[in-house]
Amino acid sequence: MDAIENIMKRRSVRKFNKNQLVPESVVEQILRAAMNAPSANNKQPWDFLVIDDRTILDQIPNIMPNAAMCNEAPLAIVICLEQSRDKSPDYWQQDLAAATENILLAVHALGLGAVWVGAYPNQQKMAGLRKTFNLPEEVTPFSLIPIGATSVNQDDAKRFKSERVHRNKW
Ligand SMILES: Cc1cc2nc3c(=O)[nH]c(=O)nc-3n(C[C@H](O)[C@H](O)[C@H](O)COP(=O)(O)O)c2cc1C
Repeated sequence: MDAIENIMKRRSVRKFNKNQLVPESVVEQILRAAMNAPSANNKQPWDFLVIDDRTILDQIPNIMPNAAMCNEAPLAIVICLEQSRDKSPDYWQQDLAAATENILLAVHALGLGAVWVGAYPNQQKMAGLRKTFNLPEEVTPFSLIPIGATSVNQDDAKRFKSERVHRNKW
């Protein structure tokens, strides 16, 4: 699959084959893609919490009902800000969003499925993640991505709208 096809055919996946574990080598490829994201001043302010313990995955929907699909996913990654590395305070959300999207695209390219589950700026969800995972004070959870093998078909959503494109002036 070429890069453009990968972008066009990536779709959110919320149903996973629970018992098909993601090999460690694939987890590392996904994390390498995440850390290859662009960031303001190249500060790379992120940390990644990898969750592959079935008992812990099953607890996540209790703290984040919007992450109910963790009941089925064999893997989830929480993308976090580590504040001491954040020297561009107005840009860290964009940095972490870029890392999150890189994960989604890498997962799709590797033949798996994933969905971006938002945490920041919802204080309740962030507090739940902070407590469950013993996140230190200087760490801010941003997003959570359940990942796994899937039989859900992913295809082009055909969202292009030429009227949304403005050229040279509005
Ligand atoms: C910031 C953000 C937060 C999101 N939060 C959730 C969520 O809590 N639960 C969920 O099922 N999907 C969530 N999504 C996924 C969107 O619903 C999905 O990307 C959108 O419907 C478009 O579908 P697609 O990803 O298949 O193109 C989120 C996406 C973004 C960018």
